[in-house]
Amino acid sequence: MDERTLDETARTLLSNDRGLLAMDESTPTCDRRFAALGIAQTVEMRRAYRDLIVTTPGLAESIGGAILYDETIRQQTLAGVPFATALQQAGIVPGIKVDAGSKALSGFPGEEVTEGLDGLRERLAAYAGMGARFAKWRAVIRIGDGTPTAGGLFANAHALARYAALCQEAGLVPIVEPEVLMDGGHDLQRCREVTEETLHVVFAQLHAQRVRLEGMLLKPNMVLPGKDSADQSDTVSIAAATVGTLLRCVPAAVPGVAFLSGGQTAALASERLNAMNATFRSRLPWALTFSFARAIQDPAMKAWRGNAANVPAAQQALAHRAACNRAARRGRYDVARDAPMAD
Ligand code: 13P
Repeated sequence: MDERTLDETARTLLSNDRGLLAMDESTPTCDRRFAALGIAQTVEMRRAYRDLIVTTPGLAESIGGAILYDETIRQQTLAGVPFATALQQAGIVPGIKVDAGSKALSGFPGEEVTEGLDGLRERLAAYAGMGARFAKWRAVIRIGDGTPTAGGLFANAHALARYAALCQEAGLVPIVEPEVLMDGGHDLQRCREVTEETLHVVFAQLHAQRVRLEGMLLKPNMVLPGKDSADQSDTVSIAAATVGTLLRCVPAAVPGVAFLSGGQTAALASERLNAMNATFRSRLPWALTFSFARAIQDPAMKAWRGNAANVPAAQQALAHRAACNRAARRGRYDVARDAPMAD
């Protein structure tokens, strides 16, 4: 493990108050989002859409790293440049999703475990050869009646830690993503308890598997009420519950925490991240930033709708959301105007 390179990559991803852009939707997920907007679900449309993203002017001002999907890292932009190279040339570090998705966990009804460890060492070496410098693995934790269980949490945390150790061996910074889903009618307190338990188990496993904390990033959920809960909680409570949970669980050696958006609207995700940084900055030992997919991309995909004539409008929408989220990382997002505050 080259510790210096790992730590440096992690720092670059977070540099200049930037965050990450997740553009690593699997083909079925990307196609589902295209279908909802009447966009043709073809390899060429997925390529055109990802081209639009990586060629957005000024994107690197707000985005330090972008997470690609296997299909995309093997493709070239419309100008004939490999996607990873195009990102590098734009000043954005290329990353890659390496998990193989989640499947039902045998013996644990209602719980899932993420697959993809078999052959991972070889796949990581191949992705590093294609230019990737960091990777992502998502574990799915579902809040239900009696779930998650200790066995379910352990299985997911162990896989995350095995993945992270292999990444560091390969010189790639692991993004460790245990996502407690928003699905369900639970309240904020229940999400807080489950997120706290999840993160404790994850960091115990990262320690057990000798993962270097300085050379990784955590990608957690915000602590939120379930989307079917009658009490949707205010921004101040959500910010306090999320920061309080992270402070209890995430060692200070971790350089950055980059949230997933999980189905929040774009504006709410920015507002909540902003509240955390504006209110608690002096207490935070790590950078608190974003690694959103939907909350950055949704307005852009809607503006594009598969029509080349809409590319400039879509790129403007993407750059705007990225800039709003960078402002939120700095506690400088103006909620009323949905725009960065003037410095
Ligand atoms: P969302 O921000 O849409 O939740 O996606 C983030 C991500 O990378 C999910 O794995």
